[in-house]
Amino acid sequence: RMSETFFVGIDGPAGSGKSSVSKEAARRLGFGYLDTGSVYRALAWFVLSRGGSTTDPAAVESGFADFEPSISLDPDVRTIAVGETDVTDAIRTPETTAAVAGVAKTLSVREKINELFRRIVADASLPGVIVEGRDITTVVAPDAPARILLTAHPDVRAARRSKEMGADDVAAVAEAMRRRDASDSTVVDFLNAAEGVTVVDTTHLNFDQSVDAVLAVVDERREEG
Ligand code: DC
Repeated sequence: RMSETFFVGIDGPAGSGKSSVSKEAARRLGFGYLDTGSVYRALAWFVLSRGGSTTDPAAVESGFADFEPSISLDPDVRTIAVGETDVTDAIRTPETTAAVAGVAKTLSVREKINELFRRIVADASLPGVIVEGRDITTVVAPDAPARILLTAHPDVRAARRSKEMGADDVAAVAEAMRRRDASDSTVVDFLNAAEGVTVVDTTHLNFDQSVDAVLAVVDERREEG
């Protein structure tokens, strides 16, 4: 156990319901919520803002050395800043989104980002934190008391993603998602559950049922603890 704060790690691909389900589960538990993808995005934004390229490992490394992110752990407050600059919206632009894969592939920096995540949780004065990402259950917190892989059938994920985005062309969304998952999973495997990780398959679950399934895993692990 890395701290008194109860650590819940949740990994999964896009469209699994990961973000919305994690956030709602955190609300109901009175826990914090840490979206680790937003930190990867903030670092990508920062590297670009300094005129660097995220495909240049040296630029990503020197960016990280000066990177001072502050991120809200309140599931109802989705803000993230780098230094004094609020980047909540800037990290969702197509430009930043395109650049983030470069950061994610810089392995030397991943180790440092993982340390940052562990420290954020350890320093949080909260009963627990739900930490959501791609490698939380496997790399960031393999010893966490609760580790969950949220999955869903690719067709269902594409349909949800399309609805979220207001897109009509589900096939195009499915293809973009497939490409992104393939690219992201070259770095970390978030499509298969590691030993000790509980799979919550949301293919046939609605939102509330998905939240309940996550809460059931957390309750069980807390009772064991
Ligand atoms: O979930 P997202 O789209 O905000 O993630 C942004 C990028 O960061 C994506 O390329 C996957 C990567 N990422 C990662 O490699 N490890 C994490 N723990 C979280 C995100």
